[in-house]
Amino acid sequence: MFDKYKPLKKILITGVNGMLGTAIKHALSSHDVSGFSSQELDITCVQHFHKNVASLKPDYIINCAAYTAVDLAETEQEKAFKINALTVEKMAQVAKQYNATFIHFSTDYVFNGNATRPYLPTQQTDPINVYGASKLAGEKAISQVDDKHYIFRISWLYAAHGKNFFKWVAGTDLKELNIVNTQTGSPTSASDVADFINHLLNNDPANYGVYHFTNQGEMTWYAFAKAINQKLDLNKTINPVATFKTAAKRPAYSVMDCKKLEQVFNYLIPSISDGLDRVVARYKS
Ligand SMILES: NC(=O)c1ccc[n+]([C@@H]2O[C@H](COP(=O)([O-])OP(=O)(O)OC[C@H]3O[C@@H](n4cnc5c(N)ncnc54)[C@H](OP(=O)(O)O)[C@@H]3O)[C@@H](O)[C@H]2O)c1
Repeated sequence: MFDKYKPLKKILITGVNGMLGTAIKHALSSHDVSGFSSQELDITCVQHFHKNVASLKPDYIINCAAYTAVDLAETEQEKAFKINALTVEKMAQVAKQYNATFIHFSTDYVFNGNATRPYLPTQQTDPINVYGASKLAGEKAISQVDDKHYIFRISWLYAAHGKNFFKWVAGTDLKELNIVNTQTGSPTSASDVADFINHLLNNDPANYGVYHFTNQGEMTWYAFAKAINQKLDLNKTINPVATFKTAAKRPAYSVMDCKKLEQVFNYLIPSISDGLDRVVARYKS
């Protein structure tokens, strides 16, 4: 039913077929959403992006498009920076021109991982891989263009759809998995991020800036694999290992403090366990 106190918002989503884009499109079904896949709208073609914004005149632009290949970025530095920084800066300029609020996502990988307690949004950034550096450059570029933007740093994203750690553990034929127990973070359900974005659109405090959003709590990849194993009754053997060779370094500790977001948006972020329960239910259905 039409609610006169919460009018429909006009929203343009880029990267709509990615893990987060899919979840956000689903969560915003009560709004007027135009979603574009990478085939429909390549964000590096800024003229095409500009044309779509000019014709749709969205209230919000939600950028779910990104270069997300963390390991490949080590050898594709130029491509990673082009998509995650240079293009994002141009998108923010277009958003400003059309007075649209720009919603963008960044990562816990902007931090070096040497901390022993959750990172605050204001804390010193120091990425240790190319992907993290490209995302940080994107954050800085947006911040210099305009104030009317939200940057949400999220972490260890997973869902019942898309390519992610949860899906890999759930779907692999391997009976025994060796998983690192030397990286600690906060696995975060893409649907929980999407539900929060829906809350924001319905209750926008216009308090722009950088925020942290992760499911609440912390664990290692090993503990997360064990939780998935247990909740899905997979009966796999999960072994902790200290190292897992990857092209890109990962921060050892990248838990983020989300209190600022909870206060400003008056929003209680669900725990890791609750997030996982919902994803498991969706995966089984
Ligand atoms: N996944 C995580 O663990 C994680 C953690 C922290 C932060 N984040 C951030 O969260 C956001 C969403 O990530 P995600 O996990 O949903 O990533 P994803 O599943 O890899 O989705 C990214 C989407 O961007 C699209 N894309 C890539 N280049 C594009 C271009 N030039 N023009 C238009 N679309 C393009 C991709 O399309 P194609 O597949 O067709 O290339 C894909 O649909 C990103 O900003 C990411 O940096 C993710």
